[in-house]
Amino acid sequence: MKKVITYGTYDLLHQGHINLLQRAKALGDYLIVGVTNDNFDRERGKLNVVNNVLERVEAVKATGLADKIIIEDYFGQKIDDIQKYDVDIFTIGSDWMGEFDYLKEFCEVVYLPRTEGISSTMLRGEKQKKTRIGIVGCGLIAKRFVPETSYVSGTEIIGVYDIDKAIGDEFARRNNIPNSYASFDGMLHDVDAVYVATPHLSHYEYSKRAIESGKHVLCEIPLALEKKQAEELYSLAEQNDVILIEANKTAHCPAFNHLMVMIKSGAIGEVVDVEASLSRLLPDRTRREFDAAQAGGSMYESAVYPLLPIFRLLGTEYSEMHLYSRMENGVDIYTKGVIRYPKAVCSFKLGLGVKTEGNLVISGTKGYAYVQAPWWKTDYFELRYEDQNKNKKFFYKWDGEGLRYEIQEWISCIINKRHGSARLTKDESIAMAGVMQQFTERKNFSEI
Ligand code: CTP
Repeated sequence: MKKVITYGTYDLLHQGHINLLQRAKALGDYLIVGVTNDNFDRERGKLNVVNNVLERVEAVKATGLADKIIIEDYFGQKIDDIQKYDVDIFTIGSDWMGEFDYLKEFCEVVYLPRTEGISSTMLRGEKQKKTRIGIVGCGLIAKRFVPETSYVSGTEIIGVYDIDKAIGDEFARRNNIPNSYASFDGMLHDVDAVYVATPHLSHYEYSKRAIESGKHVLCEIPLALEKKQAEELYSLAEQNDVILIEANKTAHCPAFNHLMVMIKSGAIGEVVDVEASLSRLLPDRTRREFDAAQAGGSMYESAVYPLLPIFRLLGTEYSEMHLYSRMENGVDIYTKGVIRYPKAVCSFKLGLGVKTEGNLVISGTKGYAYVQAPWWKTDYFELRYEDQNKNKKFFYKWDGEGLRYEIQEWISCIINKRHGSARLTKDESIAMAGVMQQFTERKNFSEI
């Protein structure tokens, strides 16, 4: 019996897939079809697959062409499968020409001509209305945002607005963005959604104006420096039926999310302590980050990151919080925060002029989680136990600048009309603004 194997995502199953499966089947007597797992697709950078793995398996099954369907979970699995199932022929569409020649050591490799004029990407494009995005604020983070959107289908950056028109013009030219607007309102008129990438103090104002014009907003951190402002923005977003997401990249990264769900499922027992730290040594003190008038300082710059695992694991209802800061020219170059819960205590360390070990340690009654620095761009973590034989390491991918994950979640919320993301809830984001406010008001605050 001649065994044939082929692999694919088979999203929105189409005639191209069916033709391929028919021809694959005709190459032998028994056809095995590998369908990619959702996580594996995400790792490969396929972020917008519409059907989940169960739906895709069902669709392949319904063709009646597969004798066996397997799930493709990891890079390198093809060699394992070929050996395990004693496969004679590996086949795939001609779009992969040459890519799988390394399998010739194990079986025959056949590239079948691809059906012209159809693909899942095309069908996804037809299904989803493109979200027209405008960027306000053409600085460093906006520069990173542009290439990252190309990994999220259904997006189109159609314009930018910068308070300094010349900067906006230059940014649009360099990034092939069609419009640089002379006014924010002008841009609002033409877009469906706005990415707010301006300095901190204008986040609230721009987000509010965009939301009130019925536009979806992805706002850079921190969303707001006052609790009331954050509450207002979320309730305006609901009233105007638009999606507001705070652009906390850690919240949307695959490894961090997996770590959180594992801990919530009891992997280290009851959480008793979370310690999180991040710091940057910036020698140039003339930068915005050191300017009190522009809300510089380590708290406003990065407190939302350590607050994320703390609030996610222990909730936003802490009993007290104390902040200790080293101030220089009105900005905190270092802050340590201690947050007490009835049955847990957490701390975070933030530095802009002080270097700390930037890791995350979550201690529980059965073990602890360790995420090495820089933990906020988590691609690897460990669960450690008293019995070291039980220790486990987990590896993931952090692609590019990591902004694609938050953009994907934002677009997914927009398409599916999902108000609020479970990865960073409205309550968590509001509580983070509350922490900023406590710092601004110097409540429970000590200078060191
Ligand atoms: N295929 C084909 N003809 C097409 C589309 C796909 O022969 N028009 C083949 C691919 O070469 C592959 C299999 O079908 O062997 C599964 O491909 P998959 O990547 O799932 O489909 P695409 O439509 O190419 O998906 P995408 O647009 O997401 O890349």
